[in-house]
Amino acid sequence: MSLIDSFGRTISYLRVSVTDRCNLKCLYCRVGDERISVENHELLSLEELARLIEIFSVLGIEKIRLTGGEPLLRRHLVNLIEKLTANPHLREVSLSTNAVLLERYANELQQAGVRRVNISLDSLNPETFAKITRGGQLEVVLRGIRAAVAAGLHPVKVNMVVMGGVNDTEIPAMVAFAKENGLILRFIETMPIGKAGMQMDASYMPAAEILTRVQAGMGGDSVWTTGTDLVGNGPANYFCHTPSGTTVGIISAKSRNFCEKCNRMRLTSRGELVFCLGNSGRMDLKDPMRSGASNDQLRELILHAVQKKPQGHQFHHEENKNPNHAMSGLGG
Ligand code: 5AD
Repeated sequence: MSLIDSFGRTISYLRVSVTDRCNLKCLYCRVGDERISVENHELLSLEELARLIEIFSVLGIEKIRLTGGEPLLRRHLVNLIEKLTANPHLREVSLSTNAVLLERYANELQQAGVRRVNISLDSLNPETFAKITRGGQLEVVLRGIRAAVAAGLHPVKVNMVVMGGVNDTEIPAMVAFAKENGLILRFIETMPIGKAGMQMDASYMPAAEILTRVQAGMGGDSVWTTGTDLVGNGPANYFCHTPSGTTVGIISAKSRNFCEKCNRMRLTSRGELVFCLGNSGRMDLKDPMRSGASNDQLRELILHAVQKKPQGHQFHHEENKNPNHAMSGLGG
């Protein structure tokens, strides 16, 4: 079965936030004084998550990415992962993490059937890293990345949100680090999502400028091949430097959106299905589930929800300032 939206796009990918909590407070994701106030009873239990994901998988979702907040803060997450990786409808179960807890969990994740992880890493300078994450320790994250590689998780993708005046001078260093460690590097334009994301507008750097910086770092006259399908089939545009084989991806959500190829929806930790990152439209699945809806009834709701997926981002739309639309709850 396939889930097809009203613009003919096949929705085969669900990103699932398992907690709003995080052990870092990145500038573009949280505002300084923000408290995350998801009460425990509001969070979907692991059983509820497993039930919903099973329903989604029967409807046509083939890929699940667990996100947060920081997904590794969710207790007993591995139990959920084991259920998901045993589901024959799901081709892939992956994780987006800040890697703070990855040294502890990399082997367990691999054994539970996770094949690959995406890691946020915005600086290789300990002070800058601490500034961006408001107190994070770079060394712990680097140990987490090494543990992921050693555990055989592959590929390990590293995401750097590029912020002008904050970490933009580190672009060449990040390219070198990724190459040395066998990581796939993607640069991300800051997106104006939630209050924190909107506050980052002043340091926004467009993809074209990021690419210029990458090229300058590698020698300006070299040959680059480009294509979205060089590595994955997601939103990154990949660029391959022919003499060295170095490949970098750039995710240009703002300057050149890729909405026409969007294949995803998001489930928040409170059980709302969010249709689009750049649009606050959503449908609650938790209340119906807790009021006794059958699997068939939940399936109907989901089929209905998919038709509400908008054609494209509406970054900066007033409604997106709604605190419910914070990145920490949407899963990056
Ligand atoms: N703009 C761009 N990327 C963001 N992420 C989180 N918030 C933003 C934002 N406002 C990224 C994280 C991580 C991924 C899950 O989403 O850095 O790499």
